[in-house]
Amino acid sequence: MGYQGHFRVWRGSAEGGGLEDFTVEVNEGEVVLDVIHRLQATQTPDLAVRWNCKAGKCGSCSAEINGRPRLLCMTRMSTFTETETITVTPMRTFPVIRDLVTDVSYNYLKAREIPAFQPPKGVAPGEYRMRQVDVERSQEFRKCIECFLCNDTCHVIRDHEENKEAFAGPRFLMRVAELEMHPLDEADRVREAQTSHGLGLCNITKCCTEVCPEHIKITDNALIPMKERVADRRYDPIVWLGNKLFRR
Ligand code: SF4
Ligand code: F3S
Ligand code: FES
Repeated sequence: MGYQGHFRVWRGSAEGGGLEDFTVEVNEGEVVLDVIHRLQATQTPDLAVRWNCKAGKCGSCSAEINGRPRLLCMTRMSTFTETETITVTPMRTFPVIRDLVTDVSYNYLKAREIPAFQPPKGVAPGEYRMRQVDVERSQEFRKCIECFLCNDTCHVIRDHEENKEAFAGPRFLMRVAELEMHPLDEADRVREAQTSHGLGLCNITKCCTEVCPEHIKITDNALIPMKERVADRRYDPIVWLGNKLFRR
């Protein structure tokens, strides 16, 4: 059975804006993105929203629902009561372009700062075998759909624009960890994680892990192991060198 839902949607641009109230039809089985589309179709044809797959796989429809970073296409209307007002706002950490669409180019700049995978010289494809545990670790990190909800929620940059230059954010610290823990990668990523990507600014609040729609254990499986490697090296460089030389 359909009902009339109450929505409060942020509308505006980089110059400013505010919340607008709407009453809109909601039907059984719908997600928040369906209702936003109905708003576009019936009341606000110029409402800007970014989306693509409607299946939780492209990472385009990131926004905030009742202040919580969420994918619009994966948030079921059945998680709210019929009488409550659902507030939809753009991601707060990134500059607004228009309405629910933000400029996420910060993330692509950070991605480019990470040196590429560096396999040993002279090794041809197929000459190495990886242990299953190493395969599974990479596979977990590679479930990432680059929705940037983790970066949106991380307090290091959410309320501190000034930290953006020094901090890669959980998504890309995880990428650094993925490469560092890859058995064939020869680059020294630990020092860089600390000096260039801002690992030291993360104080393991785990908010990033909580909002990840792919349920990647960003903090436990990527950030904490990287911090342990930084600490190992700082306190015992000989042990670190030994691990580096005899690890394979
Ligand atoms: Fe999104 Fe999770 Fe990837 Fe972060 S790690 S960008 S929350 S999928
Ligand atoms: Fe930020 Fe995640 Fe660390 S939310 S502080 S990167 S644990
Ligand atoms: Fe692709 Fe939501 S539209 S993740």
